[in-house]
Amino acid sequence: MHMLRSLLFVPGDSEKKLAKSISTSADALILDLEDSVSPDRTVIARSMVFEFLKAHSNRSQQLWVRINPLQTPLALPDLVAVMAGKPDGIMLPKPLNAKDAQQLDHCLSALEVREGLELGSTRIIPVATEVAGALFDLQSYAGATPRLQGLTWGAEDLATALGATSNRNEQGDFTFTYQLARSLCLLASAHAEVQAIDTLSVDFKDMKALAADVHNARREGFSGKLAIHPDQVEVINQGFTPSAHDISHAQRIVDAFAQAQGAGAVQLDGKMVDKPHLTQALRLLQLSRKH
Ligand code: COA
Ligand code: MG
Repeated sequence: MHMLRSLLFVPGDSEKKLAKSISTSADALILDLEDSVSPDRTVIARSMVFEFLKAHSNRSQQLWVRINPLQTPLALPDLVAVMAGKPDGIMLPKPLNAKDAQQLDHCLSALEVREGLELGSTRIIPVATEVAGALFDLQSYAGATPRLQGLTWGAEDLATALGATSNRNEQGDFTFTYQLARSLCLLASAHAEVQAIDTLSVDFKDMKALAADVHNARREGFSGKLAIHPDQVEVINQGFTPSAHDISHAQRIVDAFAQAQGAGAVQLDGKMVDKPHLTQALRLLQLSRKH
């Protein structure tokens, strides 16, 4: 699976931002038809996103489309309008559970056949925590569809769904309910064996805070993060790319096991390392070869 470190939202009706987005080093652009587009611009946004996909059929960057929720009458026309542009994937907002991802899977199959695309080639990322009920059913994503690239989570729509006036405390940190949503997204992603993608940092001018957010996210097991501004992309990419120090440390763990000839636990710099450390080291080395 190709890991997406940075996923940059681009309002689908903004000519200027679409043009700018392609010059960023985001691993994926999320061409948005949902919340960043006002309802009276939906129709024009669909055709702009389709034209953009067509114009960039030869691309190094992945191009995804965020459609409107399946519960709205906008979702199917969104899909019909963009699938001929062969998007790499569809971001699904406000799903209740994996049944919504499966419904999307069926729609994609039909449209892939219609457009002569490889069956199953369009991936899916649900924004898995945007409605209250979704939090009770996050385990449902495991094995639900082979199209699943990862799970991500949203704090803004969840707050709206709860009737909250804010999702943060006086210090600016997410309050318990949103930390819970984030943890459940992380756990559900691991359970489904897909990428855990952290939500966006709204303060796009504060690069220090962003770097800290990415650092913490990676330590916890997230492997990517949503972005809303081009300036955030490099910080996110860097934060999710193993450093030279990380790589050499991982290599030393692998070497220590190789020299120990079958031992289950070895020592490195006076500390015990065993199977879970070896698994982590191998995973990091594999990741570092991909970037
Ligand atoms: N994608 C592509 N280009 C973007 C961009 C984005 N997400 N956000 C900003 N830019 C461009 C701007 O157009 C501007 O281009 P210019 O240099 O040619 O003038 C440049 O980057 C600098 O932008 P800046 O002036 O700092 O910000 P802004 O006021 O133009 O935009 C936001 C701020 C928040 C409105 C904008 O970043 C945005 O629309 N983000 C995405 C919102 C979104 O998709 N939300 C849905 C997910 S919750
Ligand atoms: Mg939203």
